[in-house]
Amino acid sequence: MQWLWCLLFIVSSSFLPLSASVNSISINSSISINQTIISAEGKFALGFFSPGNSTSSYLGIWYNTIPKLTVIWVANRAYPVPKGSPPVFRVSEDGNLVVLSGREVVWTSNVSDISASIHSADAVLLDNGNLVLRHGEDGDVWHSFDHPTDTFVPEMRISSNKKTGKEMRLTSWVNGEDPRPGIFSIGIDPNRLQVNLWKRDEPYWRSNVYATTSSYATGFESKLGFSAYFSFVVQDDGEVYLVYSTSTNTVRSRFTLAPSGRIQLLAWVQIAWIVLWQEPLDTCDFYGYCGPFTICQQYVSIPVCNCLKGFQPKSHNAWNVGKWTGGCVRNNTLSCDNGDGFVKYEGIKLPDHAVTMRNKSINECELECFKNCSCTAYAYENVTNEVTIVCLNWFTELVDIQSNSFTGRVLYVRVHNIKLVDDSQKHKSTHIRKSFIAVGVAIVSIGLLIIVVFSYFWRREKLIRKGNGVSLMGHLGRNNQFS
Ligand SMILES: *[C@@H]1O[C@H](CO)[C@@H](O)[C@H](O)[C@H]1NC(C)=O
Ligand SMILES: *[C@@H]1O[C@H](CO)[C@@H](O)[C@H](O)[C@H]1NC(C)=O
Ligand SMILES: *[C@@H]1O[C@H](CO)[C@@H](O)[C@H](O)[C@H]1NC(C)=O
Ligand SMILES: *[C@@H]1O[C@H](CO)[C@@H](O)[C@H](O)[C@H]1NC(C)=O
Ligand SMILES: *[C@@H]1O[C@H](CO)[C@@H](O)[C@H](O)[C@H]1NC(C)=O
Ligand SMILES: *[C@@H]1O[C@H](CO)[C@@H](O)[C@H](O)[C@H]1NC(C)=O
Ligand SMILES: *[C@@H]1O[C@H](CO)[C@@H](O)[C@H](O)[C@H]1NC(C)=O
Ligand SMILES: *[C@@H]1O[C@H](CO)[C@@H](O)[C@H](O)[C@H]1NC(C)=O
Repeated sequence: MQWLWCLLFIVSSSFLPLSASVNSISINSSISINQTIISAEGKFALGFFSPGNSTSSYLGIWYNTIPKLTVIWVANRAYPVPKGSPPVFRVSEDGNLVVLSGREVVWTSNVSDISASIHSADAVLLDNGNLVLRHGEDGDVWHSFDHPTDTFVPEMRISSNKKTGKEMRLTSWVNGEDPRPGIFSIGIDPNRLQVNLWKRDEPYWRSNVYATTSSYATGFESKLGFSAYFSFVVQDDGEVYLVYSTSTNTVRSRFTLAPSGRIQLLAWVQIAWIVLWQEPLDTCDFYGYCGPFTICQQYVSIPVCNCLKGFQPKSHNAWNVGKWTGGCVRNNTLSCDNGDGFVKYEGIKLPDHAVTMRNKSINECELECFKNCSCTAYAYENVTNEVTIVCLNWFTELVDIQSNSFTGRVLYVRVHNIKLVDDSQKHKSTHIRKSFIAVGVAIVSIGLLIIVVFSYFWRREKLIRKGNGVSLMGHLGRNNQFS
């Protein structure tokens, strides 16, 4: 009988069950159904759950102190452990996190270059909801925060890198009881400071485009006495990331990409999750609803779609029956010389595909666009703490312009007919032509310098955005990193 005890010993020591309330598991130990790991201060729990009426098991992380099961991360979202098969989560002897369905591995952290001899490895659940795999002296080798599912919580970073092309995205669940990747995903545009939301691979919604050379912060303020700040941080290696933080730790909040395709900011208030902000909501929020060279004007005009000044519907027939996607075309082709001018629009969600032209003054930004006939529009932003502005040019059809006086910016659209342009603009265009012809690009006057110096002063817009009394404040302060 001794061999049996021996066997039992081996089996039990290779799957050490856990006692209650630990925040980590070590190599060769495991948790099974009905067992959890709890973060040190008790904020988050990790364990198996079955969403809704589903009978499958998933390894997930959820708020430990909120009575309604709210999962922020799922490991085996696409590989459920079916009913009847015992789910196991363990740190395997090769130092990976694995989810097993019986004996079959259904999910692994797949940490590459695992050295053959791992002597110590453990997985710890932190109080910010991050599950971290640590390999002895090698330290952290894997973070659940780097592999998000549909939820973004404070201290998490979502990033993209235009040099490596690496992009992190949140992907919606299929529905409330199926965590498999749904059709919606959201992430940062690697080429401009903008958040993009896709339906399958088609653009579905995007944020306004922010302009900065280093970082940008903005925020939400709610009547709950709670504010959320998010900031874009631009790094030298081409990486851009977004983080968010809140004014108080006592209100739990999260961004979740719902199965419906809406990105929502939610806060737990006493007994329920309250939606503080969500997009897309109105007709004009949907990407390119009116087609190219249009402006979508919710609550301003009926119908909401209008051609930009100097443009007419591409197909009047389609336009008259409410088929907007064809958009508008120029009344007169650009002359690419003195015949062209710019029409100014204020309170605008800037079009997609902005190109950042670095180190330009305000007049140089106009000139930059003016001298290249493929340039269809320009806009600029003052950047605090820098003696430059950020100049944006567009070289494509202008799509997804929305009139949105709350979060809006100023856009200058190039047209042929100078008669269109109001007097101040005409004056500006004449000025452009003169300086263009006479002095060329390299003009830097004292006056210009003064303007640029004044561009230090950041303006602050206080913006009331739809939904539950949430204010969205643009330009809360640039180059501030909220940590
Ligand atoms: C897990 O908990 C559920 C509900 O409390 C119970 O029905 C089930 O038998 C438990 N399973 C195991 C393996 O302990
Ligand atoms: C889940 O089960 C409950 C109770 O049986 C039912 O009311 C609900 O409609 C079910 N949900 C789905 C999505 O089937
Ligand atoms: C983990 O288990 C394997 C196989 O049972 C064993 O070879 C290894 O020594 C164990 N590692 C540790 C650190 O206990
Ligand atoms: C694990 O990673 C390797 C390379 O890092 C990749 O080729 C492989 O497909 C991954 N396996 C899984 C199951 O994700
Ligand atoms: C452009 O063409 C449309 C339709 O022909 C016309 O209504 C509009 O007045 C024109 N605009 C300009 C500035 O010529
Ligand atoms: C922009 O200006 C800054 C400071 O004046 C300078 O360090 C930087 O090299 C310039 N960048 C480009 C692309 O010219
Ligand atoms: C105009 O801009 C386009 C797009 O950036 C670029 O490909 C082209 O070379 C530019 N032309 C001139 C004359 O600068
Ligand atoms: C930038 O600053 C200049 C000078 O203070 C000001 O005239 C201009 O309106 C500002 N532009 C924006 C977009 O805030």
